[in-house]
Amino acid sequence: MVTPLPPAGTPLCRADEVRSGQARGCLPDEDGQDRVFIVRHGEVLHAWRNACPHIPGAPMAWKRHAYLSPEGTQVMCHAHGARFEPDTGLCVHGPCLGRHLLPVPLRQEADGWLRLA
Ligand code: FES
Repeated sequence: MVTPLPPAGTPLCRADEVRSGQARGCLPDEDGQDRVFIVRHGEVLHAWRNACPHIPGAPMAWKRHAYLSPEGTQVMCHAHGARFEPDTGLCVHGPCLGRHLLPVPLRQEADGWLRLA
């Protein structure tokens, strides 16, 4: 099960905390699992739920902020190795091939903060 998100406007992190080739988890739940992670693809930031489509609700990182493949070019679920395009969320390799990550609406404020839209 995917836990609900807080209301629009909730702060996530600053945009400059998400560098190219890196990801950042945010909004930890009561168990300490990030509900959302953000990836920079080129100059564009994308936010996804930390919930693998292989096993609905399964967290994807093996440690905090570890959402990318070793080469930093794809999102990766470390449970069974599924890989996803960072900009579309499409699974391109692994047990949930052809399925998608759940997108999270994101807005960037003039002060550099990223918030839920
Ligand atoms: S739970 Fe993500 S690949 Fe299996």
